[in-house]
Amino acid sequence: MPHGPADAPLSRRDLLKAAGAASAAIAVSSSESHADPTPPPSSMLAAATMMGVPFARHAKVRVAIVGTGLRGSSVLGELLAVDGVQITALCDIVPAKVARAAKRVTDAGQPAPAMYSSGERAFEELVKRDDIDIVYTATPWPWHTPVCLAAMKAGKHAATEVPAATSLAECWDLVRTSEQTRKHCLMMENCCYDFNEMLVDTMVKKGLFGEIMYAEAAYIHDLRSILFEDRDEGLWRRKPHTNRDGNFYPTHGLGPVAWYLDIHKGDRFDYLVSMSTPERGLTQWREAKVPKDSPKWQEKYVAGDINSSFIKTIRGKTILLQHNVTLPTPYDRLNSVRGTKGVFKDYPARIFLEGQPGGHAFKPVDDYKAAHTHPLWQRVGEIARQKGGHGGMDYIMAFRLVECMREGLPPDFDVYDAAAWSAPWPLSEASLAKGSAPMRFPDFSNGAWQRPRTGA
Ligand SMILES: NC(=O)c1ccc[n+]([C@@H]2O[C@H](COP(=O)([O-])OP(=O)(O)OC[C@H]3O[C@@H](n4cnc5c(N)ncnc54)[C@H](O)[C@@H]3O)[C@@H](O)[C@H]2O)c1
Repeated sequence: MPHGPADAPLSRRDLLKAAGAASAAIAVSSSESHADPTPPPSSMLAAATMMGVPFARHAKVRVAIVGTGLRGSSVLGELLAVDGVQITALCDIVPAKVARAAKRVTDAGQPAPAMYSSGERAFEELVKRDDIDIVYTATPWPWHTPVCLAAMKAGKHAATEVPAATSLAECWDLVRTSEQTRKHCLMMENCCYDFNEMLVDTMVKKGLFGEIMYAEAAYIHDLRSILFEDRDEGLWRRKPHTNRDGNFYPTHGLGPVAWYLDIHKGDRFDYLVSMSTPERGLTQWREAKVPKDSPKWQEKYVAGDINSSFIKTIRGKTILLQHNVTLPTPYDRLNSVRGTKGVFKDYPARIFLEGQPGGHAFKPVDDYKAAHTHPLWQRVGEIARQKGGHGGMDYIMAFRLVECMREGLPPDFDVYDAAAWSAPWPLSEASLAKGSAPMRFPDFSNGAWQRPRTGA
């Protein structure tokens, strides 16, 4: 596989050669268009970069939340626990969910927030308010980009749950809109703020693993019972399994690995190849658990149970990226990094550094906590563990967003991260449709990835 210059798209001949070399011809997916267009349409002109752009200082950070289901409620709790936040507006298509969230706001001693629940596009009214600094969307995936675009176009910063986008066209829309409106679009990848991820990132930056060569990232989580529920995520998250394939949920694993590998701080994702197994998990679960008269029996599941994608970076590093939510398994994000001087592997967390006592054996990560705990966890780790979801990382993420906005700092991630970390779904889908052919990542940053950047 040729390794061309940073921005050169793979030539048509390269793609055909690679596709032809693949032994099994995989049926072209109906959603192949999710991987186009690369580069963006000429109507979407690049403006100055948003990389490293600081927030204006905010004495108080006024937040609106769109989508007050499971995740929106938990994010609301984190934000209410952070000083200097006011929740000014809430939106959900289910009025009772908005009312329940609003009560939590007033119970916390804040003024009653405005409530919007008149339909799927009620957020378009919400964003017109003049008492909002940032709109946080925790809606189902197809709504993330529309809500973010509406927020930025109305002069508000946008924060979104993961993934930010489900097609390359949406990725470009987010990038160009952020650049043109000069508003940030942040994909709030909470796993970047988990204790081990921040500790390992600190050790990587200190050079303890040497030059980083390889990393592994994944979302491996048995969601079968959740996917078949008649509420919450069961209402929308099974659908992509019926009409798409690929690496649906790349960012929990890939976000922290992107930090380890200095993606957009001197490196970037270059291209990806992808393979999926056959599908068995949802079909067998339905057979065992779902009554035969359920409308769910009309569905056909087409997404392979395990997707394995490989990403090559411009600097030649490689990343294994896996997705598996339909087989019985303990939770696992793989989360590993390997360099010229050592290796970190997670689940369970363990470290090997060349020359450490004990020969070629891992040591528990606890041995490294005293020396390398990330400063954010040193400062607010105690309160995070008491108040925050997912072991404290959700509080750390909320705290850090508010800190950046109050102190006028650049955010820890930006719209280019949102786009590049979301792109593996459409790119893996396109690769699968072409017999695992390599698919090039667009350079969403227009070359700015080469600059060093400040942040957490
Ligand atoms: N970062 C994490 O750890 C984490 C954890 C869970 C979920 N998530 C993500 O959060 C998002 C929401 O997931 P969830 O578990 O809360 O699902 P959910 O179904 O519980 O909540 C989604 C909410 O959005 C509402 N909604 C749907 N369409 C809407 C629209 N057009 N406008 C306003 N509201 C709308 C629904 O009524 C529902 O209340 C998803 O993107 C999911 O992947 C992230």
